[in-house]
Amino acid sequence: MSHSIDWRGFERQHVWHPYVSMLDPPETWPVVSAHGVRLRLADGRELIDGMASWWCAIHGYNVPELNTAIEDQIQDMAHVMFGGLTHKPAAKLAEKLLEVAPKGMKHVFFADSGSVSVEIAIKMALQYWQAQGIRGKTKLLTIRHGYHGDTFGAMGVGDPVSGMHHLFSDMLPRHLFADAPANGTDAEWDDGQIVDLHQKIEQHQRAIAAVILEPVVQGAGGMRIYAPNFLRQVRKLCDAYDVLLILDEIATGFGRTGKLFACEHADILPDIMCVGKALTGGYMTLAAVLTTARVCAGVHKNASILMHGPTFMANPLACSVALASIKLLLDSPWQERVAAIESQLREELAPCLRLAQVADVRVLGAIGVVEMCHRVDMARVQPMFVEKGVWIRPFDKLLYIMPPYVISPDDLSYLTRAVYEVAAS
Ligand SMILES: Cc1ncc(COP(=O)(O)O)c(C=O)c1O
Repeated sequence: MSHSIDWRGFERQHVWHPYVSMLDPPETWPVVSAHGVRLRLADGRELIDGMASWWCAIHGYNVPELNTAIEDQIQDMAHVMFGGLTHKPAAKLAEKLLEVAPKGMKHVFFADSGSVSVEIAIKMALQYWQAQGIRGKTKLLTIRHGYHGDTFGAMGVGDPVSGMHHLFSDMLPRHLFADAPANGTDAEWDDGQIVDLHQKIEQHQRAIAAVILEPVVQGAGGMRIYAPNFLRQVRKLCDAYDVLLILDEIATGFGRTGKLFACEHADILPDIMCVGKALTGGYMTLAAVLTTARVCAGVHKNASILMHGPTFMANPLACSVALASIKLLLDSPWQERVAAIESQLREELAPCLRLAQVADVRVLGAIGVVEMCHRVDMARVQPMFVEKGVWIRPFDKLLYIMPPYVISPDDLSYLTRAVYEVAAS
């Protein structure tokens, strides 16, 4: 089958791509189809996918069960507003989410993207205190190197240095940033890692509505992997100082770290939890905010209601495919798969540490990170990966792999070899 690429010239001149210049855009590669873990380019080449499309396509591409879910749902309705109307796909998905989420989550608010779910989570925390007549609890406390999305509320809690604060510092709310814990495990934990956060929560408790964190893995803020013990301590501090805990599981949810949700590594329950990305197996944009009964009751004190309602809230196609994706995941040997990916990544990325230009190698679940000593030259490195037949998209100093869980050992070796060769080049 031949694929015309006449549209390329137009697209280059008129369509923005993320985080690059519209006027002088870097090279992009046209994809015409995707199956399993392979992306087919317009020129016929196939790339093994190491990114799961920004971490969401956990089952790979063109998955029969997920295709069927969309096809079946579209016969009934593609969309209907959620204000005043309701539908079974939303109810069934909410039921499934509450069944698989950490015990204690009781209510679900559907949103249309991860960033928007973070906005809603923040709004819930603010309204929780407001509705109870507790004034002044308007700040969020978080840690450095975080990333929670590109909308304003989410940017406000992203890393103050490497995030987008410098561009919007006049418009962003002033939140509180504590030192992030070290890269490491519980075995390497020392109490010094929580001191700064402890001091800040103690000092500002009357002003803090919630702590917001990515549990165990900080993604786009640096692909950092920290000790679950940090989370346990944060949970205790939140309880002691009467502050809510929001966990952003958008990148970590649905098995990526080896547990269904990363907070399970610490065996803690958040008050508010955001999920997105892999929620639909990468088929459609959908996110959800889960809360405990206490948060829900607090938000509604004194006849208050949550002020949010996106047009595409609980889109039936997205809900149907999300339900099918969770079922597919739970029916699969996902824990064995992620554990096998983890040990293979550990073994095959370890040699990178011997390269002088590599600063660190870290692995958790189906996440393998090689941190270089210097910023990666994307103009040089991105085409190199494509030439090698893989899709790996570095950022900052990081070469990393987050493949679909269904990747075969041979394909994964192909990815790790490409990372080694590029790191060594
Ligand atoms: C932890 C985390 N939170 C929020 C977001 C934002 O999600 P979205 O891109 O769907 O708005 C991301 C996206 O990378 C993320 O990794």
